[in-house]
Amino acid sequence: MVDDDTTFQLRMERYGPQLLSGLQGAYGERAEALFERLTGAMRDAFDSRPADLRVLDEARLLSPDWLQQPEQIGYVCYADRFAGTLAGVAEHIDHLKSLGVTYLHLMPLLQPRPGDSDGGYAVADYRQVDQRLGTMDDLVALAATLRRERISLVVDLVLNHVAREHEWAARARAGEQKYRDYFMIFPDRTIPDAYERTLPEVFPDFAPGSFSWDDELQGWVWTTFNTFQWDLNWANPDVFAEFVDIVCFLANNGVEVLRLDAIAFIWKAMGTDCQNEPEVHELTQALRAVLRIVAPACSVKAEAIVGPQDLVAYLGQGKHFGKVSDLAYHNSLMVQLWGALASRHTRLFEVALSNFPAKPASTTWGPYARCHDDIGWAISDSDARGAYLEGHTHRAFLSEFYAGLYPGSFARGLVFQHNPATNDRRISGSLASLAGLEAALEAGDQAQLSNAIARINLLHTAILGFGGVPLLYMGDEIGLLNDHGYRDDPEHAADNRWVHRPAMDPAAVALANADPSTPGGRILAGLRHTIGVRKRLPHLHASIESRVLPSPDSRVLLLTRDHPEGLLVEAYNFSEDAVELPSYVLRSRLGDTAVEQISGYDYSLLPETLLIRPYQPLWLTAG
Ligand code: GLC
Repeated sequence: MVDDDTTFQLRMERYGPQLLSGLQGAYGERAEALFERLTGAMRDAFDSRPADLRVLDEARLLSPDWLQQPEQIGYVCYADRFAGTLAGVAEHIDHLKSLGVTYLHLMPLLQPRPGDSDGGYAVADYRQVDQRLGTMDDLVALAATLRRERISLVVDLVLNHVAREHEWAARARAGEQKYRDYFMIFPDRTIPDAYERTLPEVFPDFAPGSFSWDDELQGWVWTTFNTFQWDLNWANPDVFAEFVDIVCFLANNGVEVLRLDAIAFIWKAMGTDCQNEPEVHELTQALRAVLRIVAPACSVKAEAIVGPQDLVAYLGQGKHFGKVSDLAYHNSLMVQLWGALASRHTRLFEVALSNFPAKPASTTWGPYARCHDDIGWAISDSDARGAYLEGHTHRAFLSEFYAGLYPGSFARGLVFQHNPATNDRRISGSLASLAGLEAALEAGDQAQLSNAIARINLLHTAILGFGGVPLLYMGDEIGLLNDHGYRDDPEHAADNRWVHRPAMDPAAVALANADPSTPGGRILAGLRHTIGVRKRLPHLHASIESRVLPSPDSRVLLLTRDHPEGLLVEAYNFSEDAVELPSYVLRSRLGDTAVEQISGYDYSLLPETLLIRPYQPLWLTAG
């Protein structure tokens, strides 16, 4: 029998050095004192970890690749919009189970500020649940219920900023120096102006600039996002210590994955864009090490919506290899999926993926087609040049296409945060509306409808086939359209991201389940089927990377997954054309026959070409 002292000591031996080195990277000589202080806090949290979660810790230590398994299916929803309350979510587990969900990200659910809270991303209290959704006891109960159903609860950890109403901010305003030091506050514009020379604007439209004047503070406070979201000063070790307590508290209440919201922004350095600074990775390494010591069942996921050249660092490059986030959103994949659909061309996709540095084999992508945020065209100029495109013009084309302004566009999106200085136009809109379902239904055109459904299926199949935890976004499984109702809500009217955050429609779910010939039914049936196929394909283990196989036809993307148990070659037709794909590329990899896993059919690769239907995905293994 291993006693607690031994377990804690073993974990400290294993992860203490990672914690210390992360702290040293951020805090230099102040690191050792902080490390000592945290050791006591971690031991307390370790001692108070509930028995059932300790069992989970042991299980996860036996299966360190649990997030990489092909069975993993992620689902992302707002508790209130999905089921009213946290207790309500437990009553809708059947829907999640019917999709094979194993990972449930409930959008921000901790106590937000009153009024506009940026969808809950302005947290007023990390130890309380938003009272409209329930209580902390409800969260504990829901986590336990989900766990019994083999679904992991994922919760946001908003760590770049707190709400202006958070106790730390209130005490800073009341003049307590300790808490003023939790923020970055400047008496006049001198330093803010110096920083702003190199800072991009996140919300140029409704929250221009990165600093806000506050009368009570008598100062300018750093606010990257909205004026009510005060950036924390992570250069202050006390802030780190606070988050150690918060992280342990959430993990001990049953949270299994913490989504590190806006992690790219937490470290500021003059003369830079204050994103992706090296200290971000030091701090992530330190936070993850804390979790490995106290609650190894709990993993972290980076929400770093950054350019392709910066993304892999969140899964660990250089000395952080394998030591930072376990999971990260694959923002670049999402952008390329939409880009290829609009242009019916996959060269840029090939270039961008080929230029991507390898991720550590122990880490996992979170591939997604849609989420609650806008789509920003994170395409690098050099990748664009590699595909004989001009970056700026191509990004402008994609904005116009998805805003529905480009001639012949099937999309019905909205421009989010037009920045006249850079001409950046991000895009809001639901997956179905962006993929053409809204326009097709309005036109009452069956061919358009079939194409739209096929596009949705293509996107879902591509994220299921990429390897990682595919993240399905609530409502997309039945093709929910844009919802313009947000305009009538004063708290949401200025932020058109709410157009793609509709409430789940129980009648639409029932109809989709009952009638597989309706658009929702067709989408749902296709998705469920492909999820079932994915779950039994070992090739989709996330330790393996999807690699580009240069395609002989620019409309078709070819990916290969070289798993020791066999090869999987995926083909995705991003056009509404039936494509005669020269089969030699596939034949040279797979031999004369292949099994197409989605349909279950055998394909002969002997004929010179292989016919791929409009928007058809193929998952081929050697026959
Ligand atoms: C993340 C969230 C986004 C929010 C921002 C600020 O990017 O996904 O919705 O506005 O962080 O917290």
